[in-house]
Amino acid sequence: MADTSDSRTIAFLGATGKTGRAILRWLLAKEAPPFGLNIYVRSRSKLLDLFPEAASYSRVKILEGFVSDTEMIRQCLSGAQTIICTLGENENKAGIRILQDAAHSILDALGELKNSGSGWRKPRLILLSSSTYNARFAAARPPLIHWLIKTAFSHPYADLAAAQSLFLESSSLLSVLLVQPPLLIEEDASGYEISTDSVRLAVSYEDLGAAIFEMIMERGYDNLNAVGVSSRKGDGFGRYGPEIFRRIFRGLLVGYVPGFWVIQQVFDRIFSGGV
Ligand SMILES: NC(=O)c1ccc[n+]([C@@H]2O[C@H](COP(=O)([O-])OP(=O)(O)OC[C@H]3O[C@@H](n4cnc5c(N)ncnc54)[C@H](OP(=O)(O)O)[C@@H]3O)[C@@H](O)[C@H]2O)c1
Repeated sequence: MADTSDSRTIAFLGATGKTGRAILRWLLAKEAPPFGLNIYVRSRSKLLDLFPEAASYSRVKILEGFVSDTEMIRQCLSGAQTIICTLGENENKAGIRILQDAAHSILDALGELKNSGSGWRKPRLILLSSSTYNARFAAARPPLIHWLIKTAFSHPYADLAAAQSLFLESSSLLSVLLVQPPLLIEEDASGYEISTDSVRLAVSYEDLGAAIFEMIMERGYDNLNAVGVSSRKGDGFGRYGPEIFRRIFRGLLVGYVPGFWVIQQVFDRIFSGGV
């Protein structure tokens, strides 16, 4: 059973994303969270549309702005023993820097907090990563599929790899647990599996959120460096293969066909009535 009686402060970056929302649902499941929760967002109104109750809890603090604003990130991290980062990007757009920018801000802010003394303790970072960046999980994939996935998502993966390196090189400022899921998919929860040995083909956002909540609440994960998370029903090439290939195809188009992303956005706006 998760221990919900602790009184620590949790800093959360990425709560409005699909993974982030699935975690926040758990964190806000009790009427008033027993812990302090500092949430960084780039849109406060988006967060409150999703979680109106967040505005009414005295121990929930919402910080809105650019992730490069070190002073704001310092406020978000102040007093936090646990940092959750589910920021990221799924589209293979060139020039993505969200995770690197976040890493620089987080590390600068932690450096300042450490130097300011006042009872600073090294926090634990739970970072949403990818099974593609776990050598053991990746080795279990057919090499061609692994290459296609790395190529079709080369831009977000480059950002993730750079941010991960920055965090892992900064062991004096934080300790890191990499959460390395396979394909993230919007479907019902079927129960989660957390493993250091293997992952299945897919995990639902709901299962991933529940698994990360367990990692936040349970001390048993404190000495691990990397874990995979899968849905119990996350296997079956017939079930997930078409979606994997659809995303690979889209990633290759977005990443390597000049102008595709812009044209796609125009079509999306026209057909969603935005123009
Ligand atoms: N897709 C997969 O199958 C898969 C598999 C394994 C791992 N992953 C990893 O999962 C990550 C994506 O997770 P997800 O699906 O939960 O993502 P998501 O739903 O797109 O959420 C991304 C979060 O990052 C925030 N964000 C993005 N750009 C930002 C910026 N410039 N400034 C501030 N905040 C920003 C978003 O804020 P807003 O809500 O304001 O947009 C949102 O909170 C990727 O980085 C990828 O490496 C994906």
